[in-house]
Amino acid sequence: SAEKKFRIAVIPGDGIGKEVVREGLRVLDHLANESNGQFSFESDFFPWGCEYYLENGKMMDEDGVEKLKDYDAIYFGAVGFPGVPDHVSLWGLRLAICQGLDQWANIRPVEFLPGVPRRLNHPDVETLNWILVRENSEGEYSGVGGRNFSGRGNGNEVAVQSALFTEQGCERIIRYAFDLARTRKRKKVTSVTKSNAQQYGMVLWDEVFARVSKEYPDVETDQQLVDAMAAQFVLHPEELEVVVASNLFADILSDLGSALAGSLGIAASANLNPEGCTPSMFESVHGSAPDIAGEGIANPIGTIGSAALMLDHLGLKEEAKLLNKAIEETTRKGFLTRDIGGTHNTVEITDAIIENLSMVK
Ligand code: NAI
Ligand code: MG
Repeated sequence: SAEKKFRIAVIPGDGIGKEVVREGLRVLDHLANESNGQFSFESDFFPWGCEYYLENGKMMDEDGVEKLKDYDAIYFGAVGFPGVPDHVSLWGLRLAICQGLDQWANIRPVEFLPGVPRRLNHPDVETLNWILVRENSEGEYSGVGGRNFSGRGNGNEVAVQSALFTEQGCERIIRYAFDLARTRKRKKVTSVTKSNAQQYGMVLWDEVFARVSKEYPDVETDQQLVDAMAAQFVLHPEELEVVVASNLFADILSDLGSALAGSLGIAASANLNPEGCTPSMFESVHGSAPDIAGEGIANPIGTIGSAALMLDHLGLKEEAKLLNKAIEETTRKGFLTRDIGGTHNTVEITDAIIENLSMVK
């Protein structure tokens, strides 16, 4: 048959990562079953994460990144659990994959779902939505630095954590943001730095932004310092369309955005290698939430929304749209987990999304 088979590497990870990825896969399987043989997913599971680390002394296999190259996409839960230092788990798995596979663009939409209690008091909140474009390969997460310099100690230790900005790194993410803006209703890119204080790397970023913007005369531009941007998220979100920022700044702003939209639990994201040389990775914005892990109450929407981003990336555009509609329909009808003021559990939300998939068709 002409069935398209997509090979997915599944990394549930730790804590609620496992609970929400299981649900996302249920949705994907449902879509495949309903596709009349048009497409299917073949999932391989990788047990990497903190438990794996405690047993094996490493977060993933040495050739893990190599193994992942065989797949069409990676579906990721979350990583991090008490007992393993967060910098070990993050660097050993998520950052190792993002940087190892050169997934240099991290896309994080901020969307306000119907029926979810508003934390943002804005007249246009029904129609607001913007998208964060996070530089995902360098910047403050370059890992350049060190500690334990000789001769220091006894309370005098010194640590250096440098941010790395390359002209090529800045240019590709800024260009990505402009190209993305061209696909949106309002064509606007806001660049976020802190170039008054970060006078080397972020001044370079600003210069590249000014240069690239000349090639996109049809796209409106704005430049903001990150502290002012945090305020703008709350006070003037109607000014936001595509927001491009460094690795750290966009990480922080995306939590702010998802909290404004109701909860970290509903925010989706895609770590893309836009050239398509390596597989891209799809994961919610939130972490492993040890405080609610194992209770079956985690909000699966962020991870299921990330599956929608994956469908879109794999060329299943209609299915992606359908899934987003089904998610909206689910919250609109009042199917909400505890983090957004409801009482439904993880499985019930997924069941509702699956049911709504056939209603929105
Ligand atoms: P977190 O995102 O795990 O949790 C923050 C708060 O939001 C918690 O109160 C949690 O219960 C709530 N929350 C998050 N996701 C939710 C969901 N789907 N449904 C309902 N409530 C949800 O961030 P935190 O607590 O700072 O970090 C916990 C662990 O996760 C750490 O080990 C951290 O390093 C790791 N982490 C991993 C990330 C990743 O794998 N991409 C991203 C962020 C943190
Ligand atoms: Mg984060």
